[in-house]
Amino acid sequence: MITENDIYGLFKEQLDAIEDDSIRDMVVRAWHLGCTRGGWKSINDILGMPFTLLTETHGVDLVEHTIAVTEGARGLALAQMKAYGKMPYRIDMDRLIAGGLLHDIGKLLEIEPNGSGGYRKSRSGDCLRHPFSGTVLAAEAGFSDEYLNTIACHAKEGEGRPQVVETILIHQADFATFIPLVNKNKDSLIE
Ligand SMILES: [Fe+2]
Repeated sequence: MITENDIYGLFKEQLDAIEDDSIRDMVVRAWHLGCTRGGWKSINDILGMPFTLLTETHGVDLVEHTIAVTEGARGLALAQMKAYGKMPYRIDMDRLIAGGLLHDIGKLLEIEPNGSGGYRKSRSGDCLRHPFSGTVLAAEAGFSDEYLNTIACHAKEGEGRPQVVETILIHQADFATFIPLVNKNKDSLIE
């Protein structure tokens, strides 16, 4: 059984950086809900789960990816705050960190074990890509629409759609982790 404490342990550093206690609790609740709905029994199963089935991840799992994207988005935000004399828009750091941690929770429903040590797309994944299922989970956990935008619009579904600034930063951090792997797998990453 996966507990909320297990989830907290996975993302302690990022969760502790969220200032609003209720937002922190809701992130943990949404992740826990995803584990329950996805039928994940043990944290070890999640730790082995690739963050995408679209390309070989070379061992990068969903938790590592989630942390990298969250920290990457934070870095993009902090770089702008440090460099600009006056910020042209406000970046909500709680929303940014929560959105980073939540952007792929739908993958807990989209991906499932294949019964022989690997992973495959689930029936839920056939019906709803992770931005949709993740948005539903986060809505059930109590997040407002502005937070839901970071999940619903972080991937191709968000292209050309209105986005909160935190969604844009999460999207860029997400693709900064994805594209090098895609290129590596196509032999077009210069190493
Ligand atoms: Fe992602």
